[in-house]
Amino acid sequence: MAPAPAMRIRRIEVRDAEAVARAMATPIALSGTLQLPYPSASTWERRIGDLSKDDYMLVAEIDGDVVGNAGLHPAGGSPRRRHAAAIGMSVRDDWQRRGVGSALLGAIIDLAENWIGYTRLELTVYVDNAAALSLYRKFGFAVEGTLRDYALRDGSFVDAYAMARFAQPRPRSGGVAATTRDGES
Ligand SMILES: CC(C)(COP(=O)(O)OP(=O)(O)OC[C@H]1O[C@@H](n2cnc3c(N)ncnc32)[C@H](O)[C@@H]1OP(=O)(O)O)[C@@H](O)C(=O)NCCC(=O)NCCS
Repeated sequence: MAPAPAMRIRRIEVRDAEAVARAMATPIALSGTLQLPYPSASTWERRIGDLSKDDYMLVAEIDGDVVGNAGLHPAGGSPRRRHAAAIGMSVRDDWQRRGVGSALLGAIIDLAENWIGYTRLELTVYVDNAAALSLYRKFGFAVEGTLRDYALRDGSFVDAYAMARFAQPRPRSGGVAATTRDGES
């Protein structure tokens, strides 16, 4: 059996717009997200170019082909929500169920929790999206509630679950040993 091609996870670039638009037009990717039909490369060029310094989008590239993307965005403008970020992702239909989603989500969680310091990651997922629900549960997300008639999808309103994952408390690095009140370590 041929070895699996190497996957590279990297930050999105404006030059990825066409590949992302193509991936977003595949039926499962479209119906699982909030994207609209007929995505265009120029719309994605603008979107990627307009990302703020706090918005992260990663892509999965296999043999030079961008086959999936995941985004991490601050959950709100208030300083009181600076611990929270929202996640969205999709994998091009012909690359699903081959580990791309896991690689992207693992990378986004690592970035969010181990480098930026978010402690609450949140997302919405349609209640009938078994693939995404299973993936998110595997990565420690739990359902917090149901949002009724959350979005219009191909002529019908569909409910969504709000899900969240909480970061584990972070260990302190070594350094100076802690001392007790009377100076004993
Ligand atoms: C959800 C999605 C991102 C998963 O990506 P993926 O590359 O297929 O995921 P992986 O191959 O890494 O699979 C990881 C796990 O997801 C679950 N999963 C993936 N596809 C599945 C399917 N068709 N049915 C059930 N579970 C599935 C499984 O638990 C799987 O683990 P396993 O293979 O060990 O059983 C992908 O299906 C997708 O892009 N869907 C359309 C867009 C979308 O729904 N985005 C999420 C919006 S909230």
